[in-house]
Amino acid sequence: MTTHASGSLGIHATGLTKSYGDLRVLDGIDLAVPRGSVLALLGPNGAGKTTTVRILATLTAADAGSVRIAGRDTVSERSRVRELIALTGQFVAVDELRTGTETLRMMGRLAGLSPRAARTRADELLARFGLAEAAGRTAKTYSGGMRRRLDLAAGLVSRPEVIFLDEPTTGLDPRSRQDLWELVRELRADGTTVLLTTQYLEEADQLADRVAVLSGGRIAAEGTPAELKSRVAGHRLDLTLATTAAYEALAPRAVHLAPDELTLGLPTDGTAAHVRSLLDELDPGRTDIDRFTLRSATLDDVFLALTGADR
Ligand SMILES: Nc1ncnc2c1ncn2[C@@H]1O[C@H](COP(=O)(O)OP(=O)(O)OP(=O)(O)O)[C@@H](O)[C@H]1O
Ligand SMILES: [Mg+2]
Repeated sequence: MTTHASGSLGIHATGLTKSYGDLRVLDGIDLAVPRGSVLALLGPNGAGKTTTVRILATLTAADAGSVRIAGRDTVSERSRVRELIALTGQFVAVDELRTGTETLRMMGRLAGLSPRAARTRADELLARFGLAEAAGRTAKTYSGGMRRRLDLAAGLVSRPEVIFLDEPTTGLDPRSRQDLWELVRELRADGTTVLLTTQYLEEADQLADRVAVLSGGRIAAEGTPAELKSRVAGHRLDLTLATTAAYEALAPRAVHLAPDELTLGLPTDGTAAHVRSLLDELDPGRTDIDRFTLRSATLDDVFLALTGADR
């Protein structure tokens, strides 16, 4: 899958497997995320997204396979890797009894900053995350979105090279979600490698350079958002054929089959030019195709098709 030298990769995982008892959660996962890019790991509930993130972030041991973060092995160089990464979990963990300022200053000190540098960094992050006003209040008084932002800010105190965001926008209102998207774009622009998990294709579409779809313990599909959408067809041209012979001739190219209606669907980008050329190519004599309809694949269609729920 990759031709990159390990040094140019922020995250490089090969052959990861993980079982819990009889349950095989990961069954051979390979990931190669170039430095300074964003990978969205997509999958339904229970697909193994959090498990993958925890293995990549050194919190869970894989049964087999290896991971390098910014060129460092997560097992033999674990403490070095931990200095290079930040992780914000699906379930926010902030200390409710500390104020925003206290939390961020403490994280700064833990990351080895001087008291003064820790104060400056905390103020910077509080401002950037829209928490300046709430900075002096304990996190107990924060809303869910504010807690999530504080959690994320805490992860960024040490300026990590690689950041893992496990469902960063779950539970956020639309405005906060936009803010978070903006932040991910800024991190990427700064050269940070980002791996985020999400159940929202729209989010992957907005943010990710590449998307990997996790299904059945494997990467079921991997590519740019545009590539994945085109694989399951941005649009589908459904053709109703005049004869069984014409139907059978085209069936091998179809992505959707409805034999009872002699109807089949072919991928298209949905432009008039492509639809016209398809019709001409498939039916030069203009006798085989009775009718056609064009339908758009929704993002949900794409996801369902890729995770196999549709088949
Ligand atoms: N510590 C554990 N012990 C036993 N089973 C586990 C453990 N952690 C995860 N699992 C199981 O592994 C599977 C994958 O879980 P995981 O949390 O990685 O999925 P996910 O893709 O993050 O799901 P979600 O979208 O719900 O967050 C699930 O069936 C889960 O029950
Ligand atoms: Mg999860």
